[in-house]
Amino acid sequence: VRYRHRRVNRIHLEVFPDGDWAERVAARWLAFMETTPTARLCVPTGDTPRPVYAKVAPTIDLGRSEVFLLDEFCLPFGDLARCDAVFRKDLLSRLSKAPGAVHEFNPQADNLDAECERIDRIVDGTLDLTMLGLGGNGHLGLNEPGSKADDPTRVVQIARMTKSAATERYGSSIEPECGLTLGMGSILASREIWLLVTGAHKSEILARALQGPIGPDVPASFLQSHPNVTVLADESAALS
Ligand code: PGA
Repeated sequence: VRYRHRRVNRIHLEVFPDGDWAERVAARWLAFMETTPTARLCVPTGDTPRPVYAKVAPTIDLGRSEVFLLDEFCLPFGDLARCDAVFRKDLLSRLSKAPGAVHEFNPQADNLDAECERIDRIVDGTLDLTMLGLGGNGHLGLNEPGSKADDPTRVVQIARMTKSAATERYGSSIEPECGLTLGMGSILASREIWLLVTGAHKSEILARALQGPIGPDVPASFLQSHPNVTVLADESAALS
């Protein structure tokens, strides 16, 4: 099996052949749960983690862990693009044993600012592991370009390309205008971060995240300032 590891700035970059990527990330997560069964985890939804969830679902034991969903769209309950619906379909419904707790944003809450504060209070700066996907525009969660490194968990306006993903890829009937996201500040407070990146369409933005200037134009570039980030990429994403 071809496998490469190198450091880019402070970031560990691990590259796996495309066909092995999901298996390797799954194995890594299973090993993490063996050593840290009570972990407080934050997880993303999307095309990138889906094959990893499919691999871990039959065996992973999250029974003593707490799981936070990274973000959510302001869409009606049951909408196909809602992150909670995607997460249920891709992971939760396939687990043989439910996680100890699952914390999700409620975009139907009367007061969305208070809802974000509620989630941040539970997160409380104590996440053991945050897994992230990389947006085509460099976003992390719904921390879209323009976000700052210390942004709190909050209500955000959604970038055009993220909006159309909701309708085109998930079949939502309406484009979400806003979303709720764990803030960059809470993401960067996580003890460990794994950035999951697959596909040639992500190679350019991945290079900017890893080696470009650190700043709001590419929110993923803020990861360069964190001491414990591992990028888990397939060869298509890493070789540009
Ligand atoms: P994707 O989304 O995994 O569906 O490519 C990543 C993201 O937009 O955060």
